[in-house]
Amino acid sequence: MQTVRRSASVLATAKQFRRSVAVNSSSVVTNEESSLKSWMEIPGPSSLPIIGQLHHFLPGGSLYPIKSDDFITSAMYDRYGPIIRMDGFFGSPSIVMLYDAEAAAQVLRGENWMPIRPGFTSLGYFRNKYYKKNGAAPDAPTGLISDHGEVWKKFRSTVNPILLQPKTIKLYTNALIEVAEDMIKRMRSIRNEKNMLEGNFDVEMNLWALESIGVVALGGRLNCFDPNLPVESPARKLIQMVHDIFKIADELDFKPSLWRYISTPTFKKAMKLYEDQINISKHFIGEAIKKLESKKSSTEEKGVLEKLLEIDENVAVIMASDMLFAGVDTAANTMTSTLFLLANNPEKQKKLREEILADREKRPYLRACIKESMRMLPVVAGNMRLTTKEYNILGYKIPEGTYVTFIHQALSKMEKHFPEPEKYIPERWITDKEDPLFHGNAHPFAWNPFGFGVRMCIGRRIAELEMETFLAKVIENFEVEWFGPPLEFRPSSLNYTIGPYNFIFKDANK
Ligand code: HEM
Repeated sequence: MQTVRRSASVLATAKQFRRSVAVNSSSVVTNEESSLKSWMEIPGPSSLPIIGQLHHFLPGGSLYPIKSDDFITSAMYDRYGPIIRMDGFFGSPSIVMLYDAEAAAQVLRGENWMPIRPGFTSLGYFRNKYYKKNGAAPDAPTGLISDHGEVWKKFRSTVNPILLQPKTIKLYTNALIEVAEDMIKRMRSIRNEKNMLEGNFDVEMNLWALESIGVVALGGRLNCFDPNLPVESPARKLIQMVHDIFKIADELDFKPSLWRYISTPTFKKAMKLYEDQINISKHFIGEAIKKLESKKSSTEEKGVLEKLLEIDENVAVIMASDMLFAGVDTAANTMTSTLFLLANNPEKQKKLREEILADREKRPYLRACIKESMRMLPVVAGNMRLTTKEYNILGYKIPEGTYVTFIHQALSKMEKHFPEPEKYIPERWITDKEDPLFHGNAHPFAWNPFGFGVRMCIGRRIAELEMETFLAKVIENFEVEWFGPPLEFRPSSLNYTIGPYNFIFKDANK
């Protein structure tokens, strides 16, 4: 018999949540309400009964020819303007897309008390079932990615002081330098006579990112760089799983799918993947705990895993598992994009190398190079919130319970925010106010790669340290070049870089 599922968990949470905040929040709607335009008047592809806007995306449809990476960025904005309505169908949610920084600020600030970020609904559904089945209390956390409301808030306030504390993160500096140096050795060892890396460059970057986040989440080395690492090894399996989960979650959570009503084959595949990911994370965490126990008497400052374990083993397992999940593809793709941009801007690369070789404590240009890459080629194209009250956005009434998405990738490529937006100019992040390129002239919500407010990426400090450490080592050791057509992207839940990766890594003159 087919399983009939109840409503998607995020929406259920939202309803509960709305009830609980009703007394605290006042709607922004005033007597101008009557002049506001309705939901159906929001610009967007025309809608037909039952199939909604689907026909636009089918062969022959008006949006069919648009390349997928232009779809979310320029093409929709050029056609419909700063606010666009995308109707949901077959269980996928209706979404409002915003290409206006002030409108994005209005919703993000308005939802900053206990924000709900839609997405990973199917993961949340699985984790709730899985943890409850294994004896967890009904209000037990399942993780920052999948929880909402009070459960999320309690968990986040428990882990914030550990993961966002600069002092704790700084403890990993030397370990991350070691990881970066080992990765450089690996790159040298797999370089061929053309100075290109043998094998898949994206897998290499994922191995580096997993080894790096493993150091923080598990307090030790996973040995991802072992040249004999079999495809069937837990590290390789985890990398593949994270990749597959981002892809399948996108299909289930945002595209039309019947999984909310019946167990579709994709749904079954997803449930298996989610379970495998928990099991493999538990394997790594179990190993890490064993190692910690064997060095119990250590007087060293405690790291992330030890501090989390002091709170509760369940908190440690859930958080480490989310770090292994959220910290791999994000950092890896950001590094690939940054290397691509530096390879294509040799004068910027030279300037960066000079800064690194000067060996000063502060390296502002290094940070600026990464920021600029996250402006031009961000791994997360946008962010999302589920509204818990009604909004007046650009003259339209946005009801509570709407998925609103902020397309930061498009905003940070707008001339009015960042002059000469198509050019890679790290200098804009360090120049002073008088310079027309000064980044402070942009609207503060035009560049938001790590999200916003109380729900902002909890791994931000870790990611920045990892990426700065590794990029500095690469540029110190190699002159990075690129040949052939530009790097391509496949937008999904994340913007994935796709090959061919035409990098050349020549030895740098130090
Ligand atoms: C370049 C690297 C990264 C980027 C661009 C990135 C970006 C983001 C963004 C945009 C969000 C959503 C924030 C919001 O809703 O306002 C997020 C959430 C999150 N990120 Fe990251 N991230 C990166 C690396 C990492 C790393 C290394 C970790 C591991 C610790 C991590 C863990 C998380 C978690 C657990 C959340 C959910 C937070 C919550 O909902 O409370 N991320 N990230």
